[in-house]
Amino acid sequence: MIKNKKEVDQVISKFIGKKGSLIPLLQEVQNFEKYLSKDTMRYISEKTGVHLAQIYGVATFYTMFRLKPQGKHVIRVCKGTACHVSDANTILKAVNSELKLENGNDTTKDGLFTVMEVACLGCCSLAPVIMVDDNTHGKLTPEIIGEVLKKYK
Ligand code: FES
Repeated sequence: MIKNKKEVDQVISKFIGKKGSLIPLLQEVQNFEKYLSKDTMRYISEKTGVHLAQIYGVATFYTMFRLKPQGKHVIRVCKGTACHVSDANTILKAVNSELKLENGNDTTKDGLFTVMEVACLGCCSLAPVIMVDDNTHGKLTPEIIGEVLKKYK
């Protein structure tokens, strides 16, 4: 199912026929769809004439593309060097534990949170750092993760 078909159509018409436009097209679609579903990729293929295998190949090659639904809030856990040496792995475990994420699932069952591991968030002096949506939380300890995430529940 495509949630924002009108917007998808607008993006397609903006890029259709332009050489090298598949990646920006998929990025813009993902911006409001939040991920690239099979239905969305199939629809883009039908409308643009780009083979579905090519679209799927691009979507699975680049890590910026998401093929699974995303939670309402996105938690980016920094695994960059400064955060890594400040025990980012413990922070990640605390986040996953707080959200009861297991077995490789990155999104909570209620669809409220998605957890992503990212490289540097650009605020290394605050390490270890997470970002929830557009809000940066730094100098974290595992003990305060529950308090930080409570604001978003
Ligand atoms: S390494 Fe984590 S913010 Fe830079």
